[in-house]
Amino acid sequence: MAEAITTDNSTEQTPQHVAIIMDGNGRWAQQRGKTRVVGHKNGVESVRAVVSTARKEGVKALTLFAFSSENWRRPEQEVSVLMDLFMLVLTREVRKLHKNGIRFQVIGDVSRFSEKLRKKINEAQTLTQDNTDMVLSVAANYGGRWDITNAATQVAAKVKSGELDLNQIDESVFDSYTSLGDLPDLDLLIRTGGDYRISNFLLWQAAYAEFYFTDILWPDFREDAFKTAINSFGNRERRFGQTGEQVQESR
Ligand code: IPE
Ligand code: IPE
Ligand code: MG
Repeated sequence: MAEAITTDNSTEQTPQHVAIIMDGNGRWAQQRGKTRVVGHKNGVESVRAVVSTARKEGVKALTLFAFSSENWRRPEQEVSVLMDLFMLVLTREVRKLHKNGIRFQVIGDVSRFSEKLRKKINEAQTLTQDNTDMVLSVAANYGGRWDITNAATQVAAKVKSGELDLNQIDESVFDSYTSLGDLPDLDLLIRTGGDYRISNFLLWQAAYAEFYFTDILWPDFREDAFKTAINSFGNRERRFGQTGEQVQESR
């Protein structure tokens, strides 16, 4: 991502919003006789690759699961390395994101992070806030149940203060209080690393997303693998409750 990316190859088949559960770092390292941390470090290159590819392909929003609200349960040393890595990547990469017109944001409960990290996050968000080519959301200390509960709390507060009327609340109003409420609906949810679960990621947002699971471990998931996932989305028929015939007719 050293140079500014100017191409936009998006077509009708391109998912507007893609999210990725970046899983398999630990196993990638263990297969090589290395410590789990080595896998996380090598995973950073895959993050670079997918951000750059998403931008080139004309994806409008890319959401990456970096650290779940449950990942605090890992050994303290691994958690600490992950935090350091997050800090390092933010320091190194934000300028490049900015140059490429990418708006950066963190979703999740950042209150548990160190003040230093929170400051870095704020700086990155402020620097890139007016960029419009793509939105990169990094989910950190994120949980889908937290997201829904957090939205419910905000809605309840508005009702209590009289700013919102109970009968104004519908799905779209509620959605606007969730983490990605200002972005297009999630089209494609990818999980690397061979497991078939959502691990408390975008529970609300995944309602009608297409799922793509691959055995490829995250550090091996690069441009070609990502393009394969995007192309597979182009072949799906999204019916949103209708019949296949209805969908064909409305084309
Ligand atoms: C995903 O890789 C990265 C994070 C959860 C931070 P893992 O560390 O979960 O790797 P595996 O699943 O143990 O191989
Ligand atoms: C999901 O991976 C979280 C991230 C990729 C950040 P995990 O490896 O934590 O998921 P589980 O625990 O196997 O479900
Ligand atoms: Mg894992």
